[in-house]
Amino acid sequence: AELVVTDRGGRQHRLPAKPGFTVMEIIRDGGLNELLALCGGSCSCATCHVFVDAAFIDRVGAPGQFESELLDSSNHRRETSRLGCQIEMTAALDGLRVVIAPEED
Ligand code: FES
Repeated sequence: AELVVTDRGGRQHRLPAKPGFTVMEIIRDGGLNELLALCGGSCSCATCHVFVDAAFIDRVGAPGQFESELLDSSNHRRETSRLGCQIEMTAALDGLRVVIAPEED
């Protein structure tokens, strides 16, 4: 499976995406360093913010309540915002496209 990531400079990266890993882990382990992922994936830092491509948002689903509260602390929240550490790759998400959200100011 594959995850397609657009970085903050607008460059696209096609990363190998093993099911069972999260979008945050796949981006981090794929060599991109734009996601700080300060909390290591425990849904408490919000530095793994991504925008999910609209074509995939139904399959990815909405954030949980706690995740949504964290996303509210971002100046860049959109309809399609999710925390990358809270999206687990599955076969159904093959080809998922996400854009790394801008850094918080
Ligand atoms: Fe901290 Fe996702 S890595 S909330």
